[in-house]
Parts: sequence; structure tokens; C-alpha cells
Amino acid sequence: MTTEQAIRARGVTKVFGAGGLEYHALRGIDVDVARGEFLMLAGPSGSGKTTLLSIVGCVLAATSGSVHLFGEDVTALAPSRLPDLRLRRIGFIFQGHNLIASLSARENVALVARMQGFGKQEAGRRAEALLDRVGLGDKVDNLPAQLSGGQRQRVAIARALAGEPPLVLADEPTAALDAQSGLGVTELLRELCREHGRTVVVVTHDSRIFHLADRMVHIEDGRIVEPLLEQAS
Ligand SMILES: Nc1ncnc2c1ncn2[C@@H]1O[C@H](COP(=O)(O)OP(=O)(O)OP(=O)(O)O)[C@@H](O)[C@H]1O
Ligand SMILES: [Mg+2]
Repeated sequence: MTTEQAIRARGVTKVFGAGGLEYHALRGIDVDVARGEFLMLAGPSGSGKTTLLSIVGCVLAATSGSVHLFGEDVTALAPSRLPDLRLRRIGFIFQGHNLIASLSARENVALVARMQGFGKQEAGRRAEALLDRVGLGDKVDNLPAQLSGGQRQRVAIARALAGEPPLVLADEPTAALDAQSGLGVTELLRELCREHGRTVVVVTHDSRIFHLADRMVHIEDGRIVEPLLEQAS
């Protein structure tokens, strides 16, 4: 079966804790994301955005429901297969950028290529080409501490793209940035992914970047909501 769908989530729930302390973070999420779509997922703090992104990214297991990525049911895969799937299919951009402080920009990006089996020189060459694309060709030897917040986020984008993943997931990539660099970073992410037909999900509160989305999905209290329909009912 071929599928147009990059992501197909059905009835996804997540319950944290147990006994009397259960917390229902996701209460039955159905969402489809088409291949090549640039989707934004918005909602209040604590509504379940990071939880949903983590389940789609195969770093957190759902309590129930299913997630298909490019037609494959990843919720049915053995846990031992997930690291390889993440390495080859998914590029993550974390809110806190998560760069390794003791490694240069080049080394941070090259690490992913190294993990994929490229030799040291080829990995370094790929990293430099990517850093050049994100406008940091002259900063490849800088440590994260020697970069601005926006530049660090660009390194994080380069790192997420280093494995040429078909799916890119970003959790509040502009949270630490001013309006100008937040917009610039998001435009760059969109451009670099569109070139390769990549599918992107960006979690954000940042209404300054909403206009860059192909489509917005809103989540509240662990459920997908349609703001206008909600108001009408
Ligand atoms: N490991 C955990 N154990 C218990 N509860 C958790 C855990 N992780 C998240 N939660 C709860 O699940 C809910 C959803 O959390 P999540 O991190 O997905 O929210 P979010 O929408 O990303 O919020 P924010 O915008 O603040 O990042 C929150 O109420 C949170 O307290
Ligand atoms: Mg979050």
C-alpha cells in the first residue's frame, strides 16, 4: 500500500503515573499529516504538545492508539528497532537546542552523520555544507557558547537535517528568540525542508510565525480542537 500520509495518528492516548495519581495528557488524538506538509501544532501550556510530538517521534510510547509513519505502524514495532528508525527517518529540533557544549558547531552536526556510518572526513564535509546553508559557514569552529541564541538554533536545524530525514519535528524552536530571529529561523526551516519534500511538525505558541504554516492544528487539554466549531457549539 502506498500512502500520501507522512503521519497518521488514531486514538492516541497518554496516561502518566498510576493509581490515584494518573494524569491523562492525551485523550484520543486523531491527526493526519500529508507528505511534504509544514504543519504547526499550537495550544496552551500543558495541553499535550510535547507529549504528542514525542510519541510521533518515537521517543515516548503511547498508552493506547496507533501511529503510522509513512505507512508503517511504529506503535507495533519492537523497542529495539526504534533507535534506527529515529536515526534514519526523524530529525528532532528541541526547545533548548540540546547542542553538546564541548563540541564545535561542525562536530555537533557531524555527529549525526558519523552515527549513520559516514567516515570522519565525509561527516565533517557534510556538516560544513549544511552549516553553510543555514548561514553559519564562518562559525563552524565555534562552540555553542560562542554563538548567539539564533545561531545555536540554526546549528540545531543543521543537525536535525544531517541525517536527511523525511520527517522533521521541532518543539518550540523559536521560544528563546526575538521576533526577527524567530521568523528567520522558521523561514529557513521551511525552505530547507520544502526543497526536499520533507514533512515538518512545529510545536509553537508563537503567533508571530503562524502565517508560515501550511495548516494549523490546535490542541487543548489533550484533545484536538477546532476553535471556530468549539465556539459555535
Ligand atoms: N513524565 C510526566 N509525568 C507526569 N506528567 C507529565 C509528564 N510529562 C508531561 N506531563 C503532564 O502532561 C501534560 C502535558 O504535558 P506537555 O509537556 O505535553 O505539555 P505542552 O503542551 O508541551 O506544554 P508547554 O507548552 O508548557 O511545553 C502536562 O500537564 C504535564 O504536567
Ligand atoms: Mg512542551
